[in-house]
Amino acid sequence: MAKESVRLGTVQETLLIPLYGRALDAKARRPILRDDRARAMVESIDYDFAKFRGPSLGGSVLRSAIFDGWVARFLAEHPDGTVIELGAGLSTRSHRLDNGRARWFDLDLPDTVQLRRRFFTDSERTTALAASVLDTDWFEQVARTGGPYFFVSEAVLLYFREEQVRSVVRALAGRFPGACLSFDTGGGAMMRNQDRNPVFKAVDARMTWTCDDPKSLEDWGLRLRESRTFATPQPDVGRTWPRRHRYGMPLLARLVPPAVNSYRMNLFSLEKAE
Ligand SMILES: C[S@@+](CC[C@H](N)C(=O)[O-])C[C@H]1O[C@@H](n2cnc3c(N)ncnc32)[C@H](O)[C@@H]1O
Repeated sequence: MAKESVRLGTVQETLLIPLYGRALDAKARRPILRDDRARAMVESIDYDFAKFRGPSLGGSVLRSAIFDGWVARFLAEHPDGTVIELGAGLSTRSHRLDNGRARWFDLDLPDTVQLRRRFFTDSERTTALAASVLDTDWFEQVARTGGPYFFVSEAVLLYFREEQVRSVVRALAGRFPGACLSFDTGGGAMMRNQDRNPVFKAVDARMTWTCDDPKSLEDWGLRLRESRTFATPQPDVGRTWPRRHRYGMPLLARLVPPAVNSYRMNLFSLEKAE
């Protein structure tokens, strides 16, 4: 069968990195996410995935597991809630965690959504939105569900400038006060190392927004509820990881603290901005 060709913008192409990470995990002896859909997508896309190497592939799986833990907890508390994936790429979170009742939106730029639509069909409860996180024209479609809302933005805001991230947060806080917003932040040590990271040698995109302390973002209309690293996942999430991560990450964090502590997964609630 002919493989699917991809034509994606520079940042959009980075979605293929976590996709490949999840596909490799699916093939592992002890998978963490068991994302067989990612594996099937990688097999059907015409792209040189093998050029992606290094620890970021496994890291993207650990990251998704931490975000999954928060989304799963939200859905346990709010089974009819709305989960909005900002910069969804080819994320399969809605398939991994669906409870048969929740409402899901997968938002990404038009070229990514075009690719996404080759693999996923909208349903009554699942909608792909071709829009930018930087715009607000999609807000009302999401708001019509009535919430409560959980926004998850995984490996997306890092590619923006700080003032862009701030305006995304302020706009969300203004329209969805009280909602949960989760996203990852990278400190200076991580940002400075990008050119040495094998996955970034294989793409042109570079992360730009540096944030050493997610607590400092509270000035933007956020309240930090949890901040985690690969060494400090939620205990119930960490228990599902193979030993080399469960014990290896805390050890690495002790030996080379910036290598682990500079990259953080954060859970905030949105306060109304003054
Ligand atoms: C590294 S990928 C992460 C994809 C997905 N979150 C995951 O973890 O598999 C970055 C994603 O951000 C998306 N993106 C970049 N700029 C965006 C914007 N302005 N609005 C919406 N999505 C954007 C890209 O298209 C891409 O899918």
